Amino acid sequence: MRITVVTVVMVILCVMMVHADIQPQRDFNLQRFAGKWYRVGLAYDSPGFVPYRDKLRISMGMITPQTNGNVNLTMWELRPTGCHSKLYQYEKTTVPGQFTYFSTRHNKIKDITVVETNYTEYALVLKHKKFEREYTQVALYGRSQRVKPEIIQKFKTFATSRGFPRESILTPPPAENCPPSASGR
Ligand SMILES: *[C@@H]1O[C@H](CO)[C@@H](O)[C@H](O)[C@H]1NC(C)=O
Ligand SMILES: *[C@@H]1O[C@H](CO)[C@@H](O)[C@H](O)[C@H]1NC(C)=O
Repeated sequence: MRITVVTVVMVILCVMMVHADIQPQRDFNLQRFAGKWYRVGLAYDSPGFVPYRDKLRISMGMITPQTNGNVNLTMWELRPTGCHSKLYQYEKTTVPGQFTYFSTRHNKIKDITVVETNYTEYALVLKHKKFEREYTQVALYGRSQRVKPEIIQKFKTFATSRGFPRESILTPPPAENCPPSASGR
């Protein structure tokens, strides 16, 4: 009887692991992940985004953990109309390093996985809709606007392994004066 239950649980776990082929950073620590980041790389293969590829700039983001384990992410982005900040609210899941958020733009719940980070220098973050390839993004975050070439290479290798075509893997130039007060370089 006990063996049967264990077997069933193991089968369920195996099925879950097959679907969750991307694992978050081991022992993910939200407090260490908090604070200022720059999005220095973006892989995004949506046809609607193609005309904007050349206009993309490095965006600054601020991760603010809430006491319940959810996260507020404020991102500053340079658009033709100026520098705008946007708040994203990521909800925690049972897996540390994995979050969900509701995309108002796509009207869908997205999964956010912090795939790899060493907290002080870089973070590789995958945004995806489970079981669907559409609108999947890989972002490379750096604690400063410049990261080491090895880190850029790690990002490109990861994005390529997720099936992104080379031309959709971008490392944009810095933004001028966005946000206006903290063009920290
Ligand atoms: C997160 O954002 C919400 C909505 O603006 C706000 O009410 C809340 O105070 C924020 N929490 C933190 C920790 O910044
Ligand atoms: C983070 O990674 C970079 C590059 O591999 C390394 O130079 C740095 O020492 C690492 N920091 C920590 C805390 O591991």
